[in-house]
Amino acid sequence: MTTLTFARCVLLGALATGSLAGSAMAASNEVNLYTSREPALIKPLLDEFTKETGIKVNTVFASNGLEERLRTEGENSPADVLLTVDIGRLQQAKDYGVTKPVKSEVLDKAIPAAFRDPEGHWFGVSLRARVVYASKDRVKQDSMTYKELADPKWKGKICTRSGQHVYNVALFGAVVAHKGEAKAEEWLKGLKANLAKKPSGGDREQAKDILAGACDIALGNTYYVGLMRNATNEQRQWGEAVKVVMPAFQETGGTHVNVSGMAMAKGAPNPENARKFMEFLVSDTAQRIYAEVNYEYPVKPGIPVEETVASFGELKPDTLPLAEVAKNRKTASQLVDKVGFDN
Ligand SMILES: [Fe+2]
Repeated sequence: MTTLTFARCVLLGALATGSLAGSAMAASNEVNLYTSREPALIKPLLDEFTKETGIKVNTVFASNGLEERLRTEGENSPADVLLTVDIGRLQQAKDYGVTKPVKSEVLDKAIPAAFRDPEGHWFGVSLRARVVYASKDRVKQDSMTYKELADPKWKGKICTRSGQHVYNVALFGAVVAHKGEAKAEEWLKGLKANLAKKPSGGDREQAKDILAGACDIALGNTYYVGLMRNATNEQRQWGEAVKVVMPAFQETGGTHVNVSGMAMAKGAPNPENARKFMEFLVSDTAQRIYAEVNYEYPVKPGIPVEETVASFGELKPDTLPLAEVAKNRKTASQLVDKVGFDN
């Protein structure tokens, strides 16, 4: 045994006593990821990370409930990083106490302050605007305010998914933050009164309904239009039937933007690798992959958006920090029930 090998074994033995030595050796070059993101989307990211760092990524995929899973597993959780979508889920993880704050100059520099937790518990990785899909045939106007969605001129013409879906709860939370609870309730009643049908389906189904003539405008996230228009199946027609109108809040002139994001797990067994992985996700390479593969807006300024997304026109995000939106989610959700939005 050479001195070097001997020293290495002593060191590992000291770090990981007794029977855990084997697993500690194995774990030293890995990172454990819990994610709700589609495997097809994140595979190119994971492959690139492993290529650059030699760190293997073990993935647990579930479309829902990962925050609850982390809470149930508690200190025994093998998770290092949670990668999910929506401020609602990120804030939920923080509220459950399953995240730990990360201090990183790389993250703070790459991610504008409005799109990360002031305490470092969650970080936005990509942006998606919640916009209006409007019929190319039947809607003339190319700009509007969110306020206008409650105008009776749209009576019977608006489609949306459930008001309780996290995407809508965040948008309505932003409305509460800007206008206060009473005005937000009035607005939500007006929007409800304009619905063409009971809320159902996902964002893509609303574009399908517009194509079918069931409504003229709908609420939807930007990336679905990119996905639909570049699809090889019937969804392509749904995407071609609509144009993207970026509504603005009168208060700031900006459009509501949500995030896909990440958090370090409280008991992360590989915190150093977790930090490397999180920093990798805001690198130029990873940010380009987000833009190209899923038609999202890079969170890091200066990275180009994909061609279809560029055709929507310039995105001017609302300047209200997402942490403020998060504080108003509960009120928004209660208002959805109060006005019977989904009934
Ligand atoms: Fe989505």
